[in-house]
Amino acid sequence: MTKTSGPEFRKSAERHEQQPHVGGWSLEGRVALVTGATGGLGKAIVTELRERGADVYGVDIAGDAIFHADLSTAEGNRRMVSQVIETAGRLDILVLNAGCQFVAPLHEFPDAEWERVRSVALDGPFFALKAAWRELTKSPGGRVVVTASVSSFTAAVQKAAYTAAKHGVLGLVRVAAREGAAHGLTVNAVAPGWMDTGMLRGQLEGAAARKGISTDEVIAQMRAWQPGDRFVDVREVAATIGFLASPGASAINGVCLPIDLGATA
Ligand SMILES: NC(=O)c1ccc[n+]([C@@H]2O[C@H](COP(=O)([O-])OP(=O)(O)OC[C@H]3O[C@@H](n4cnc5c(N)ncnc54)[C@H](O)[C@@H]3O)[C@@H](O)[C@H]2O)c1
Repeated sequence: MTKTSGPEFRKSAERHEQQPHVGGWSLEGRVALVTGATGGLGKAIVTELRERGADVYGVDIAGDAIFHADLSTAEGNRRMVSQVIETAGRLDILVLNAGCQFVAPLHEFPDAEWERVRSVALDGPFFALKAAWRELTKSPGGRVVVTASVSSFTAAVQKAAYTAAKHGVLGLVRVAAREGAAHGLTVNAVAPGWMDTGMLRGQLEGAAARKGISTDEVIAQMRAWQPGDRFVDVREVAATIGFLASPGASAINGVCLPIDLGATA
């Protein structure tokens, strides 16, 4: 029988009454860390969070990020988190967006590429969450948003590592969501469809060669997979991340929101 009264229940109800950080979409006064910050989507996330008023720290292995780190390693993630906390004095919002891709048939998939793709997309978020947990659970209404993918729900041919890692990261999001809830922390994911970024561009020539068609035809096929025959705009995904990171989204926890124009509907 479920216990709905008594000291234990009252204790948990009181704890929740104290926690909600309700209302509004502004991120004024919040410190945010964004990974993969110099990539196509990452730049749009940084802009979105800044426009909402957050103090944003971008981290990437490449480009003009505020901090540089290899986020496939435990050490890289720990350093990233401690640099931001040392500089800003706190951490309220963690957006885990770094990612990479490798395409090959399963039986030829190089072990090293399996390791690389998985470690950026799955191990990295685990190490980052672990390192940031204390600070995020101290924050009134801490927020984590992970960039998952439609490959978190569907199987993409020749993308064993990416698909497995993006499926796996949803499990991590759900566990973190349950564990963070008592502290008012929410942990969610977004699952974009095709966006026209460096990651997509990096796949065009290989796909064209495999299919025996031009890169323009590959682009047309990618667009046509999505209702409306267009790419998802990075700003559409960034806006959703901004929403999930805001105080008004305080009761949304443990979800993965598809942003794919209805492709997986
Ligand atoms: N482009 C798409 O169609 C698409 C679709 C669904 C999900 N996604 C996801 O969106 C996120 C952003 O990708 P994007 O489309 O902007 O591609 P992108 O290649 O432009 O950006 C990815 C960023 O991650 C960084 N990165 C890669 N390995 C890293 C490492 N070891 N340490 C630190 N940073 C590292 C890259 O330097 C790059 O700036 C990724 O998680 C990706 O899986 C992309």
